[in-house]
Amino acid sequence: MTATPASAPAASSAPPAALEASCAAAGQAHILEDWAALSEAERAALASEVEALDFGFVRSALSASLAAAASAGAGAAPPQGVVQLRGVGAPTAERRAEWRARGLKLVAEGKLAVLLLAGGQGTRLGSKLPKGCYDIGLPSHKSLFQLQAERLLALQRLAAQANGGRGRPLLWFVMTSPFTHADTVAHFEAGGYFGLDRAQVTFFQQGFLPCMTEEGQIIMESSSKIAKAPDGNGGLYRALRVSGALAAMQAAGVEAIDVYCVDNSLSRLGDPEFVGCCHERGAQVGARVLAKACPEEKVGVFAATPEGRLQVLEYSELDPAKASSTDPATGQLYFNWSNICMHYFSIDWLATTVEALSGPGAAYHIARKAIPSKDGSKVPGVKLEMFIFDPFATAERTALFEVAREDHFGPVKNAPGSDTDSPDTARALLLAQGARWAAAAGADVAEGCAGLEVPPLVSYAGEGLEGLVGGKAVGAPGPWLLGADGSIV
Ligand code: UTP
Repeated sequence: MTATPASAPAASSAPPAALEASCAAAGQAHILEDWAALSEAERAALASEVEALDFGFVRSALSASLAAAASAGAGAAPPQGVVQLRGVGAPTAERRAEWRARGLKLVAEGKLAVLLLAGGQGTRLGSKLPKGCYDIGLPSHKSLFQLQAERLLALQRLAAQANGGRGRPLLWFVMTSPFTHADTVAHFEAGGYFGLDRAQVTFFQQGFLPCMTEEGQIIMESSSKIAKAPDGNGGLYRALRVSGALAAMQAAGVEAIDVYCVDNSLSRLGDPEFVGCCHERGAQVGARVLAKACPEEKVGVFAATPEGRLQVLEYSELDPAKASSTDPATGQLYFNWSNICMHYFSIDWLATTVEALSGPGAAYHIARKAIPSKDGSKVPGVKLEMFIFDPFATAERTALFEVAREDHFGPVKNAPGSDTDSPDTARALLLAQGARWAAAAGADVAEGCAGLEVPPLVSYAGEGLEGLVGGKAVGAPGPWLLGADGSIV
């Protein structure tokens, strides 16, 4: 008996009738045009790609997105600057303590969940594995996922301590994508979930959308593969519904979620001060913001819509004159508050938004690209992508909360060796933070010391270090790792 080579065409040459009918009804019969020449494995792969597609949704998303792109800018009023910190202002230490207590109570009562955006492809970093698996070179060599898991555990523990020793597990929803899912789950499995209870972690996948011509013809990357692109971090909204993750949050009694990005070495996930502030204010959408480092900094900024609602402008949407214009009354930049993608959503706002963005009529951003196609050429096409901040203007109650850059933002965007936003800069920021915490707790940190790694399970945000490091020397050159017993190695 001779085996059939994997690439040999399969016996019957006609596609299954139902598959053929659904493609034909959607005007996409060309997807199956090479069926006769495909192997069994290729046919199975193509059939499952087609079955996963909601042709009606794809068609309506394209037309809504093209219509939105055509009307954008046509007669639209310009965005307004000077978005104030929405009543948060510069809070006193007492206010901060009240918010912190409120945030810890929400955590202890299981009313807060944390959601991680980890579906991105991380092209700039250039690692084969998902960004969360990345070791930024700390003394402990913990991955970003492990650091985050331990911060979550540390917060859960603080919350229970602040609430008479009683606390529910803090639920962690991790959004992956077809590009990151398997490696992410494998990393958690290999690390034994980093001390978390498996049941408190829910993985769910964001979707992808096919690349199309502007006329709506789906582009084939090969005879058996549809050209696809992830639907952006705003794919969160649809994925929350399709995966059942939102329903799981609602069933668990979650009232609000704290959302953050995988690629921030300093992500203080679930920050109780921020969460408590947003909750107290009844915010539907909250955001931690940084004051812009300089007018030309390439970051998205918060602005007001002409109706006074909240929106985010990409840096490419602000010309240099606008970006550097200041409010004469305060001397502050009009567009001062940069977006670091750390958000608070009330579950009620989220439920309404998820409903609105999951159905027909949801508009995506259109990126016109040359898409590699099956005959080896590149054809002009469009990719559809949504950003997490796209629906913010629907929120009536919002809160912007200023945080200190050096304590909240250590981005990992670029490849090692790059001067900005690289694993090296993110590592240096985390080590410097540990050294600052140690100095504030009474350690003698030598000039020129490369810093101290404070594991999250030893301290979540600098608290509780006096007894461990007070009076100790943290010498140069370092970097050092602080142990739970106060050892510095
Ligand atoms: P970025 O926009 O920086 O993209 O993601 P990226 O994919 O990580 O990196 P590049 O641009 O390819 O180099 C910001 C956050 O949004 C998540 C990322 O995982 C990161 O946490 N993200 C991005 C998603 O979850 N899904 C997406 O489709 C895109």
